[in-house]
Amino acid sequence: MEKLRIMSVFGTRPEAIKMAPLVKELAGREEIKSICCVTAQHREMLDSVLEVFSLKPDWDLNIMTPRQTLSTITSKCLTGMDEAIDALKPDMMLVHGDTSTTFAGALSAFYHKVPVGHVEAGLRTYDKYSPYPEEMNRKLVTAIADLYFCPTENNRENLRREGVTEGVFVTGNTVIDALKTTVRPDYVFATEELNRLPYDSKKILLVTCHRRENYGQPMEDIMSALAHIARTHEDVELVYPVHLSPVVQECAKKHLADIPNVHLIAPLAADEMHNLMARCYLVLTDSGGLQEEAPALGKPVLVLRRETERPEAVAAGTVKLAGVAYDDIVRMADELITDPDAYAAMAHAVNPYGDGNACRRIADAILWHFGRGPRPEDFHA
Ligand code: UD1
Ligand code: UDP
Repeated sequence: MEKLRIMSVFGTRPEAIKMAPLVKELAGREEIKSICCVTAQHREMLDSVLEVFSLKPDWDLNIMTPRQTLSTITSKCLTGMDEAIDALKPDMMLVHGDTSTTFAGALSAFYHKVPVGHVEAGLRTYDKYSPYPEEMNRKLVTAIADLYFCPTENNRENLRREGVTEGVFVTGNTVIDALKTTVRPDYVFATEELNRLPYDSKKILLVTCHRRENYGQPMEDIMSALAHIARTHEDVELVYPVHLSPVVQECAKKHLADIPNVHLIAPLAADEMHNLMARCYLVLTDSGGLQEEAPALGKPVLVLRRETERPEAVAAGTVKLAGVAYDDIVRMADELITDPDAYAAMAHAVNPYGDGNACRRIADAILWHFGRGPRPEDFHA
């Protein structure tokens, strides 16, 4: 029997981290020819992930431009995917999550009548503009997809409420599969500055911030709250690998440069980031991926957003929504830095997002769809 040609398409850092273990799982299956196509919506931050996971794309659209707009990303992806699909002839395309690459990839598959599997399906905030444009991307991809790989039961329930019940699997999130390969107790950082951090004598706060809906005043307020937190707590070292977006770079430097206990550093390779998270005290972030990884590592998270599509760890008590207002962020961070009981109540490992076997379930589900294997068991937290 001919091998199934399964084409994974991704372009940004988080998609790459979450798709890398799946591309490898598919490559390990006898019945499958695993094809990897990158849009390079992110260039340097994508290449760093490809290197960490030793992935060599079969096709590279190389679309990134500085300060790119949503329309440019989408139109360049769509045009580029025509040629890629014609050349690579996939039996199914896999897209991940909610980026512009995800949406344009799914749409181009539809134009070529190629079935679509949506990895990380069913996340919702029900606010069209937050996260922006991700919430709309998710909904549009739901309309196009044929198979849905939901990280959690809650995500499946979201789809069910929209009338989507066929081809839906609860698999866990592939990010937990990725974490299992990167985090090691004896890890030595390639970034020397991270080896020198005083993990035992000070509290390491790990920060990331990049969301488009936070651009402008919310991001100004977040950064000035972070500056205040660093200045008022001598026992804290704030480590912030700054996203390469010029908007974020400018805002971070404006508020946080030249504070002695703030480390503004370049984006970290995924293995460096995961091991730093495993050793830090607290995470402050507007990232989606960090909200999934930190709970698995037992690290409390303050989310620098008004809402989250990842309510599972909030329910488990390890993640709190801090919002984007200066006073709220300062108050909630102060509490976790100074009150050991408040900290202990949040610092316990939970695994609502997966057991590290998501990729195996997704590969099995694809084979089941093509009549080449049994339906996999769902993931239960
Ligand atoms: C994108 C995704 C967002 C995801 C985030 C992960 C969309 C609309 N947004 O947002 O969902 O959470 O990635 O990080 O799909 N840049 C570089 N080098 C890089 C990467 C980015 O220079 O390796 C700069 C470029 O100037 C680029 C800008 O960052 O134009 C913004 O990148 P873009 O992909 O448009 O948006 P993100 O905010 O990264
Ligand atoms: N990450 C990384 N280096 C960094 C910052 C983040 O490897 O300097 C990883 C992080 O551990 C997670 C993913 O990138 O796996 C999250 O990506 P990002 O925050 O850019 O996007 P989001 O998850 O919000 O879409």
